Amino acid sequence: MEKRSSFTGKLGFVLAAAGSAVGLGNIWRFPYLAAKYGGGIFLLTYIILSLTFGFALMVGEIALGRKTGLSAIGAFKKVNKKFAFVGWIVSIIPMIILPYYSVIGGWVSKYLFAFVAGDGHSASVDGYFESFISKTGEPIFWFVLFISLTALVVILGVEKGIERVSKVMMPILVVLSIFIAVYVMFIDGAWQGVIYYVKPDFSKLSFMTVVAAMGQLFYSMSLAMGIMITYGSYMKKDVSLERSVHSIELFDTGIAFFAGLMIIPAVFAFSGGDESALGKGPGLMFVTLPKVFDTMAGGQIIGALFFILVLFAALTSSVSLMETVVSILADKLKINRKILCLIVLAGCILIGLPSSLGYGVWGGFKILGLQLLDFFDFISNSVLMPVAALLFCIFIGYFAKPSYLIEEIELNGKFKMKGLFNVMIKYVAPVCLVIILVSSILDVFGVVKI
Ligand code: PHE
Repeated sequence: MEKRSSFTGKLGFVLAAAGSAVGLGNIWRFPYLAAKYGGGIFLLTYIILSLTFGFALMVGEIALGRKTGLSAIGAFKKVNKKFAFVGWIVSIIPMIILPYYSVIGGWVSKYLFAFVAGDGHSASVDGYFESFISKTGEPIFWFVLFISLTALVVILGVEKGIERVSKVMMPILVVLSIFIAVYVMFIDGAWQGVIYYVKPDFSKLSFMTVVAAMGQLFYSMSLAMGIMITYGSYMKKDVSLERSVHSIELFDTGIAFFAGLMIIPAVFAFSGGDESALGKGPGLMFVTLPKVFDTMAGGQIIGALFFILVLFAALTSSVSLMETVVSILADKLKINRKILCLIVLAGCILIGLPSSLGYGVWGGFKILGLQLLDFFDFISNSVLMPVAALLFCIFIGYFAKPSYLIEEIELNGKFKMKGLFNVMIKYVAPVCLVIILVSSILDVFGVVKI
């Protein structure tokens, strides 16, 4: 057996896990959901969920990986044979996410190219985004480029690449996001957006706010898909698990927070306070930020820098997704790893094509009333991940028993949040997950409107 390589120290582990967690979910997905689901109230719901629910799940997954030294399928099987199937469910999720994630990664690449080519002004004009995504060949070209880059990184070897890139890029991304957010605050009309984003308005709290926040939590923290189990299996025993999770969460939520603070006030500033602009959905970042850069001195360069950082953040995430898919297949099929990467690449291109075309020539084709990309997003975030998380909680709470993981967590001192972990995994999380799962399914089938 090949010896499992491990991350060097706490910083190495945190940065690598944060490299997977911080990505398009934070910069592209979080702001448009926050804009759509009530601003401040969404932010508050998200933060509460991440400190309780997200914390417990992430600690649990990493601990399971570190304790067993195995990735998802092996880890579940080792603890309880009957639960091996959970490993399989968990493994399907990255296969669904990776293709459509890469479609968005392609959009980012296109914008980067536009800014580097000095064409940032055109990108800020109304209709630019819509006309781009509704084309056939161009978005496909960028999508294939992005996923091929991802495959290249995976073929060339992962952990070191991830570690090195994240170490440099992540801090720059934080600083640049804060800079842009502060700049945006001073644009005329933006302040109203700052208030909308940070001040919770309880009249806007709906069931969907919680559903959306929870889906976002899984997505953003790379939970419920076996990734953190795998990362845990690479983690050294002498690094504090609890403290590492706090650091990862701080990174992840911090970057999402600043992304929202860049984008939502800008929406207010450029729409003249028209709140309907908040419901733009997946296009929000692409439509809004170029307008911000267009008003800035040196906006071309700042825009280019911003999109390159986002591209790297997206790549470190897509690499972690592809790595997971490849290692699952490699465990089962005795095929050369490089060839496997190429097969996964081809598969992703095929599966991703409909998501890309769904905004253009295939626009009329809908599943459950959803555009194809939204459909994949819904199936993974609102159905499969809650199912996987629920099974994980039942598995840990009632079969493996929390003490099995607590022992692992306490290898590095007292587990301060032990009580919270126990209650979350055994009671609160499973009940919430069931309610959320049932209602989001009823909602999409149109049985009830929430
Ligand atoms: N967490 C990543 C993001 O926020 C996306 C991702 C999901 C990465 C699942 C890996 C696994 O963009």
